[in-house]
Amino acid sequence: MNKKITIAIDGFSSTGKSTIAKLLAKKYNYIYVDTGAMYRAVTLFAKNNDFVSTDALNKEGLISNLNSISLSFQFNEDLGFAEMYLNGKNVEKEIRTLEVSQLVSKVAAISEVRKKLVAEQQEMGTAGGVVMDGRDIGTVVFPDADLKLFMTASADKRATRRYKELIDRGDKVNFEDILFNVQERDRIDSTREDSPLVKADDAIEFDNSDMGIEEQFERICALVDDKLS
Ligand code: DC
Repeated sequence: MNKKITIAIDGFSSTGKSTIAKLLAKKYNYIYVDTGAMYRAVTLFAKNNDFVSTDALNKEGLISNLNSISLSFQFNEDLGFAEMYLNGKNVEKEIRTLEVSQLVSKVAAISEVRKKLVAEQQEMGTAGGVVMDGRDIGTVVFPDADLKLFMTASADKRATRRYKELIDRGDKVNFEDILFNVQERDRIDSTREDSPLVKADDAIEFDNSDMGIEEQFERICALVDDKLS
């Protein structure tokens, strides 16, 4: 079985896209690209250089410094997946804070940022054998992807999952803030002008509000196997 396909997974925040994508990459020995991590890393750069804060955005300042941003993924053998590096520094933990989550949609709405990241994502996927998750993979990055999935779940379920993740890793957060952030990001990501989050016409929708990871994975593997046969 030498055929290698491109799998695009889009959907709302905290719908378990990356969990499924990592499992698929492992099973089929594909490259996994977490495009949200790339938008988060640019946001971290913008925050650290005062181009973005809760109440301000210096769009021109960030745009003129985009060339100073170098992003890469490096595989961590112990974890079994690639971690995000910003200008040579591992930022995997820093990019997952609630603070970055609260700023990222503003940065992701900037067309120049999207242009840079989409080009890098397309480059990473040229050889096929890739699972990429994000918001615009099946619509913009790989409109010809072999398999497109669109993940949804209720905002309450997603906030509960995200809250648990942050609490488990020791962050001090409250549920209401997480729920608000999930809903705000849905709103901004879906209504922005450039590449809004929409389901591609040919994407298969998965509402996993009441579906466990195992069941989803089983169903999705059947779809992949079908494309490979
Ligand atoms: O997948 P995530 O929650 O880590 O993504 C963080 C943010 O990045 C999300 O709110 C919207 C943005 N994003 C995007 O605009 N396009 C992508 N392909 C991936 C993420």
